[in-house]
Amino acid sequence: MKIVRSIAELKRDHSVSLGFVPTMGAFHEGHLSLMRVAKSHHDVAAVSLFVNPTQFGQGEDFERYPRNLDRDAEMAESAGVDILFAPDVSQMYPRKTTEIQVSGVTERWEGGHRPGHFTGVATVVAKLFNIVQPTAAYFGQKDLQQCLVIQRMVADLNLPVELKFEETVRESDGLAMSSRNVYLSDSNRAIAPNLYQELKNIRDGVLVKSASVDSLLSSAINRLNAVGFTVDYLELVDLDTMAPIRDLEQDAAIIVAARLGSTRLIDNLRILLNSL
Ligand code: PAJ
Repeated sequence: MKIVRSIAELKRDHSVSLGFVPTMGAFHEGHLSLMRVAKSHHDVAAVSLFVNPTQFGQGEDFERYPRNLDRDAEMAESAGVDILFAPDVSQMYPRKTTEIQVSGVTERWEGGHRPGHFTGVATVVAKLFNIVQPTAAYFGQKDLQQCLVIQRMVADLNLPVELKFEETVRESDGLAMSSRNVYLSDSNRAIAPNLYQELKNIRDGVLVKSASVDSLLSSAINRLNAVGFTVDYLELVDLDTMAPIRDLEQDAAIIVAARLGSTRLIDNLRILLNSL
């Protein structure tokens, strides 16, 4: 595996197909599974590792975000990655950057709770696409709204890259893997799987119509509050637009963001009508 630190060193060979996985490092099985899929579908698998300052808000965890290039490089290599692109901030942002503001789908949920976050994400991903020039790029459905934002950006700006969205990888107790899980205290780590459990409870309730969607959502919020979460949002939304819905007439997702101690967790569960 080649570790590349500068943009100038990256040379794209257009005779090969290239699968790309953008990341911020602190790798776990979720990242590794994206890398393995990219490698299995392309001649070359490239991963970027860049803790992107512009997608973190004031008071968020940019400074303490876990960083360990040696460990990550070893893990990426064992997943079959050919190129690890790990630029520093001055490579990516030599001056105040031009920004990409994606319309529509950025307004709610993560966009509402983290102003500017998706502008930071869209801008860095567009830059990375132009630098790496991938055939296809791989993202995790764990960050469902991020997938929709990237999809909208690629469509609106006619970017020549194919997008692939892969299933969320979970711990054996259901907790979605995340680089931020290392912040959880032991006691909060034990509570954290309740989040996914409540997503499944709501899905089951919505499917059998055991109660109204509003009351299923509010009982789940109450149970999460009771065990120590502070819920930012918990909603049933349309899978394409992320607008709230109350009847299951289209593909949908239950989405959640909740804080546990100083850790903010997000998760979602899709309900696909043709697989019911
Ligand atoms: P990061 O949080 O490092 O995630 C990199 C990729 O891994 C994203 O596509 C994310 O959705 C995916 N991922 C994270 N946890 C996962 C899990 N449990 N299962 C499957 N996939 C998972 O997302 C970012 O970085 C950044 O916003 C980035 C797109 C790199 C732009 O800076």
